[in-house]
Amino acid sequence: MTDQVMETPPRGGAAAPGGNVQTVLLVDDEENILKALNRLLRREGYRVLATTSPMEAMDLVLEHPVAVVISDQRMPEVSGTELLAAIKEAAPDVVRVMLTGYADMEAAMDAINKGEVFRFITKPWQESDLVATVRQAALQHFLVTENRRLLQVTEEQNQRLQELNARLEEKVLERTRELEDRHRELQELHARLQTNFRDTVRVFVEIMELYDPFLGGHANRVAALARRLAERMGIEGVDLDLVEIGAALHDIGLIGAPKEVVKVPADRLTPAQQEIYRGHPALGQRLLKKIEFLRQAALLVRSHHERFDGQGFPDGLPGVAIPVGAMITHAASYLDGLVHREGVAPAKALERMSGLAGTVFDPEVVRVLAELVPAQAPPRKVVALPLEELEPGMRLAADIKTASGRFLVPRGTRLNEVQIMRLRNFHQVDPIAGRVRVSLED
Ligand SMILES: [Fe+2]
Ligand SMILES: [Fe+2]
Repeated sequence: MTDQVMETPPRGGAAAPGGNVQTVLLVDDEENILKALNRLLRREGYRVLATTSPMEAMDLVLEHPVAVVISDQRMPEVSGTELLAAIKEAAPDVVRVMLTGYADMEAAMDAINKGEVFRFITKPWQESDLVATVRQAALQHFLVTENRRLLQVTEEQNQRLQELNARLEEKVLERTRELEDRHRELQELHARLQTNFRDTVRVFVEIMELYDPFLGGHANRVAALARRLAERMGIEGVDLDLVEIGAALHDIGLIGAPKEVVKVPADRLTPAQQEIYRGHPALGQRLLKKIEFLRQAALLVRSHHERFDGQGFPDGLPGVAIPVGAMITHAASYLDGLVHREGVAPAKALERMSGLAGTVFDPEVVRVLAELVPAQAPPRKVVALPLEELEPGMRLAADIKTASGRFLVPRGTRLNEVQIMRLRNFHQVDPIAGRVRVSLED
């Protein structure tokens, strides 16, 4: 039976821990040894391949999933050591066992020491020893291949994890970029809206200014003072802006009213003028509420003549029902009227207002106002400039009148571009005598 392969199917049993039946390859030139081993190992449940030809053994190793090869040392063509060395080269995972007589013991030991062979079996063998050796060899094969398989699985999983991470990172970055873009767009939109909003308010104030310079100056000063007051009272954010805007537009209902109604204190108006005057808060609200983003400010405008004791107009609201921004505006407007229209010193004006705290004004507002307004105006450096040198932002230290006595802009006004243009236009038709006095500090 030279060169004949004996292959026997497994009969269940010698499976690796992973569950697969393991294959053992037998190589020996003596057929009866092959037969004996074949029988024994089949009984143990291995799938057995057997050949008397070392050349064919090489082919079988490459073609079948061989776990263990058992080779005789002494064969006519090549020695077992040579065959096992060749198998190690071609299929390193195959566990090699040498079958040897006592005479070849030295070669067998040498092969083991060089790592060419896992174990050796001496002829004649004890069946139990042989089975144990083959089992160890098969287990060794299982451990080596299983270890490699697990390593590969781990590597693949790592690889996949890395890819997932990279993709995730990319996704997060992409999403972050999107969010940043969106945020920037919203910020730009918000800024544009804010600008539109402020421009609109500024145009209204300029219209008030064109109608009456005092009214415009009053609007600007009251807006600034009301904002400081509100801030001091703990109002912040959009509510603070709302107070400022409401205060800037509070007297917009006076546009078109007879000049006396604007210039003369309310208690000195005729009944007919009084009636017009008392209509300006509601008229102001009616004008502003047509603009969506001014609707809130319009409410404040409506209530800026309400009194703390409920005796104000147009609604006679009690103190608790009056928006705090309206209370602030009322106080700021009243103080500005006393100081800039009637020429009362700030300290005196505050004294007068303190007497009205709890009736006309919210006592808390008056208290905070007293903290804010310095009793004595700070000393200012006043210079006299020719009309051409006036610049926006300068504050007038004296009223501006034309040579013919026409009153143009009151002292205390902070000049803006529109006013300066208006002054220069007037100057063409009714010259402004001398220089304009402006204060540099403040
Ligand atoms: Fe008013
Ligand atoms: Fe006012």
